Amino acid sequence: MKRNATEIVSQMTLEEKARLCSGRDFWNTAEIQRLGIKSIMMTDGPHGLRKQSGFADHLGINKSNPATCFPTGAALASSWDRKLIENVGKTIGVECQSENVGIVLGPAANIKRSPLCGRNFEYLSEDPYLTGEMAAHHIKGVQSQGVGTSIKHFAANNQEFRRMYINAKVDERTLHEIYLAGFESAVKQSQPWTVMCAYNKLNGTYCSENKYLLNDVLREKWGFDGAVISDWGAVNEITDSIAAGLDLEMPSSHGAGEKKIVEAVESGRLSEEALNRTVERLLKVIFKAFDNQKGNVTYDISQHHKLARKAASECAVLLKNEGNILPLKKRGKIAVIGEFAVNPRYQGGGSSHINPHKIDSPLDEIKKLAGEKADILFAQGYKLGNEAALMDDNRLSDESSNPNYKLIDEAARFAESSDVAVVFAGLPASFESEGYDRQHMSMPDGHNELIKAIAEVQKNLVVVLSNGSPVEMPWIQNAKGVLECYLGGEAVGGAIADLLFGEANPCGRLAETFPQKLSDTPCYLFFPGDEKNSEYCEGIFVGYRYCDAKGIKLLFPFGYGLSYTQFAYSDMRCDKISIAENDTIKVSVKVKNIGNVAGKEVVQLYISDMAGSVLRPVKELKGFEKIELQPHEEKTVVFELGKRAFAFYDTEISDWSVETGSFEILVGRSAEEILLRQEVTVHSAEKKQNYTINTTFGELFEDAEATDRVKAFLKDI
Ligand code: BGC
Repeated sequence: MKRNATEIVSQMTLEEKARLCSGRDFWNTAEIQRLGIKSIMMTDGPHGLRKQSGFADHLGINKSNPATCFPTGAALASSWDRKLIENVGKTIGVECQSENVGIVLGPAANIKRSPLCGRNFEYLSEDPYLTGEMAAHHIKGVQSQGVGTSIKHFAANNQEFRRMYINAKVDERTLHEIYLAGFESAVKQSQPWTVMCAYNKLNGTYCSENKYLLNDVLREKWGFDGAVISDWGAVNEITDSIAAGLDLEMPSSHGAGEKKIVEAVESGRLSEEALNRTVERLLKVIFKAFDNQKGNVTYDISQHHKLARKAASECAVLLKNEGNILPLKKRGKIAVIGEFAVNPRYQGGGSSHINPHKIDSPLDEIKKLAGEKADILFAQGYKLGNEAALMDDNRLSDESSNPNYKLIDEAARFAESSDVAVVFAGLPASFESEGYDRQHMSMPDGHNELIKAIAEVQKNLVVVLSNGSPVEMPWIQNAKGVLECYLGGEAVGGAIADLLFGEANPCGRLAETFPQKLSDTPCYLFFPGDEKNSEYCEGIFVGYRYCDAKGIKLLFPFGYGLSYTQFAYSDMRCDKISIAENDTIKVSVKVKNIGNVAGKEVVQLYISDMAGSVLRPVKELKGFEKIELQPHEEKTVVFELGKRAFAFYDTEISDWSVETGSFEILVGRSAEEILLRQEVTVHSAEKKQNYTINTTFGELFEDAEATDRVKAFLKDI
């Protein structure tokens, strides 16, 4: 029987209402037995389930029940595949049902402001459009199974340094265009059951107490009607939070929150109406979870593992493939080098740490797939530290930080006597994690030195990277092939084998810019800020928006990725070349697979404002489609663009606005490789004429109406 939240609120005592606003314990909401309100369980997320049945923590320290570990957010976003991430979400939803979890905490939709942020492996992209699309489809997938999500961390939680209280100082336009737009799109498209507010302050106010964020923007502007929950321990002063629009403090405050709320209502500091609204929103979510509970759900672990393998292969990005060194032939001597080949790095540390059902060993999978005609040799190359090092003070060290020349020499000997060497390298767990940021973008010396030594003896060198965020590649000229696998989940080992031997064709594209060096990144001078403040001085110029404007030479641009086939673009058409701001415009383009194997291409559409009066990025991503093409097959990709594709956030009206003028629609395969373009004109109804005593005649005469008025005025005097 469906229960009516409004009616139940009217039956609750003040104490009961206050009790519901804090968790019962670490993962569950409070229960009110008298009224039959049961508790629901929330748990991490986002790329799999971390349900703890024993000791609870929010750092991934204590054990959790086995679950499928999918590729992390950074990897999933590199698939640029809405259907894939939705399918992963759906599968996570099934696992939640099987564990009686009502809400899974994620997706994590924070923008990658700096490559140094320790949690970038969990986040999706540096671009708000891509972030919004991927987050929206993750949410759709999970929620299709009757399980709620909690898009997090709202908002401007872009670093781990002092994450509990740092004050992110972000101007209004930047906030909306860069840091909120992904959340906005996900909220509007997919209505997550809950939103998780971040720990940090935003422009002087804790996100958990930020009325502008939680009420004015999230609810009033975007129409969010779910509940806002706190990040674990993000509540500072619960009564201020409730007044600002927060609904649930997590985890439990062991009665302290309840007491404060009761006192605040009794003394008139907090209105009971505000509390009622909060409780009603919470009850709606709780009832929804119960109404959708399926009970006795089981799942086929091997099927979920299969999806994890497919996902991992669709996420990997082929960065370099000189002389078509890849795919490898299944014969001859192949030297597989590096401890990651037997002990893969497939997820990150912290609250998203999953206890996987099983982990594929890349070496075993390579052996399985290579068959009998190939001779696979293995050399360790470096020694990884133990994961417990994560908790050490000396976090940025790992045993492989220092080159182990004995192991390197042994590996070089193997490589020299082989036909090809595949080196597994990247970032060990201690180099990046929730809880701290990186201080540099280097891989451990032990990995770099190994690659250099192998390159000296074996020119057929392929590097397979496992890392959650971009790294510098001082050896890039010496490797013929580079495959970026990010943190690809429990089945990444199988996916790597599939990709190396061409059983799968790489089709991931970078969801973030790979700079050559740290000083080429937009907030290099300001990240992570001082003890109190992090000033977002680079404004809207984040990721490729910055590199485009500055003409920075990159290692690999946003949107980039190779395939074992090639694609040709032609015939770009727009159904109109002049539109009013509220019209839509259809853009079509033909894409053909001109190679000999089937493959997937990500067709990207960017918009460039050619003559706006406000400072705009050179171009911004406003559409993408991933398509699969058989050899010689051609498809037409169609994009539909509305006002928002051309708009900027106008602080004078606190809303999105389009200026009359020319825009270029750009279609290409990365932010650097634009292949087709078409100019269109957009006519805006809005005409801002803020003429003042300081307006020059030149400015007035640019406006025909103003010119007429001035002329008329001059005639009269
Ligand atoms: C993290 C969240 C996580 C929560 C619960 C926090 O420390 O920031 O992302 O969902 O813990 O584990």
